[in-house]
Amino acid sequence: AQHVLVRGQVLHFLSDPGPEADPAAWQYFDDGGLWIVDGRIEGAGPWDAIVPALPPGVREAAAFHDHRGRLVLPGFVDTHLHYAQAGIIGAYGRQLLDWLNDYTFPAEARLADLSEAERAAAFVVERLLAHGTTSASVFGTVHAHSADAFFAVAEAHRLRLLCGKVLMDRNCPDNLRDTAESGIRDSLDLINRWHGRGRLRYSLTPRFAPTSTPEQLRLAGELFASVPDLHLQTHLAENRAEMAWVADLFPDRRSYLDVYTHFGLAGPRAIHAHCIHLSNDQRRAMAASGTSAAFCPSSNLFLGSGFFDHAASLDAGLRVGLATDIGAGTGFSLLATLRDAYHVSQACGTPLGSLRGFYLATLGGARALYLDDFIGSFAPGREADLVVLDWAATPELAWRMERTTTLAERLFALMILGDQRCVVATHVLGEVAWRRG
Ligand code: GUN
Ligand code: FE
Repeated sequence: AQHVLVRGQVLHFLSDPGPEADPAAWQYFDDGGLWIVDGRIEGAGPWDAIVPALPPGVREAAAFHDHRGRLVLPGFVDTHLHYAQAGIIGAYGRQLLDWLNDYTFPAEARLADLSEAERAAAFVVERLLAHGTTSASVFGTVHAHSADAFFAVAEAHRLRLLCGKVLMDRNCPDNLRDTAESGIRDSLDLINRWHGRGRLRYSLTPRFAPTSTPEQLRLAGELFASVPDLHLQTHLAENRAEMAWVADLFPDRRSYLDVYTHFGLAGPRAIHAHCIHLSNDQRRAMAASGTSAAFCPSSNLFLGSGFFDHAASLDAGLRVGLATDIGAGTGFSLLATLRDAYHVSQACGTPLGSLRGFYLATLGGARALYLDDFIGSFAPGREADLVVLDWAATPELAWRMERTTTLAERLFALMILGDQRCVVATHVLGEVAWRRG
């Protein structure tokens, strides 16, 4: 067996700490250790308790990573991004529907070229690791080979990733349009090739209600119901003009959410990005069906979409994950995304605490993707994906950290002042997958 030992300030979550930061929801070991066997967590605890429990010879034989004084967390989980959109981060001056037409569709059309898809996949996976993100739910483009290209890179890095080809058979440029039948056929082919292979799973990917015919949505719902452990990703209630368009396109449906519910595009392993313009009744209905929400604060601020109410969503029982939504999001860092989440939460009148923030970036995301049996915490048997963070990566962080002591305050400073400069190393299944310098 391969043994790995990591020493550092180990933090992980067992449940949502809630608005009051319930201390029973997390474990923190100031001089902590992780014992990893064949890529899985065997033990997490105080270093002085881990070491004496090791079988004879393991301490000497194990690969040892000494990160004393650094924060060791489960790898970040980005619950929603578009890998074809890395090249349009920071495209100026539009809201959602114009942004799609002016920037997004032309960018996605470039992936008609397989080699462009392969380059984009390699770039994005490398950037995820450089930012401490080890799992994600990822949109491809309408081209089936976009999902092949992404899965191939994910497999080479042994990452637990979800991806799917976009389903889009109306209200889009001709060169990005599939048909109800071809979209499902291509999805099924991809499922046969990739779903359940190693750590990979397929995620059915109807872009959003306006770009699919009712027939495509119906077939997608049937497929979603028929394949075990299949995932589903889409967009819901992001922008006011989008809301009005959906009401126009689906006059028989009571609401935008009802479109997805009606066609069977909700339920466990389905994640809907944004979920801004929803009522509490709708949040409760999503929670009751087991549908998750991806909170994309940077994207929502960038496109002027509105403010996701994380407190109302969590109160309703929704599974919420944090997401960059690259390329409407402005970067890959979930630390920077947490800062935006905090700003949005203040705009909603319910400030996001630091422990809950770090929960959302790790176990919360894993739960939102229904992957928490595998990732998101250091519970025994979990896959040992982790990120090592430098509390004092910048002069401002160092200055601040010298003047604050409690875990909650230090985490909060990291949330507001931190970004990818804090990432020292990223491990996948115990092994170093990215390291600074
Ligand atoms: N709604 C439909 N497609 C998209 C997309 O690519 N990005 C965002 N942010 N919203 C969408
Ligand atoms: Fe998106």
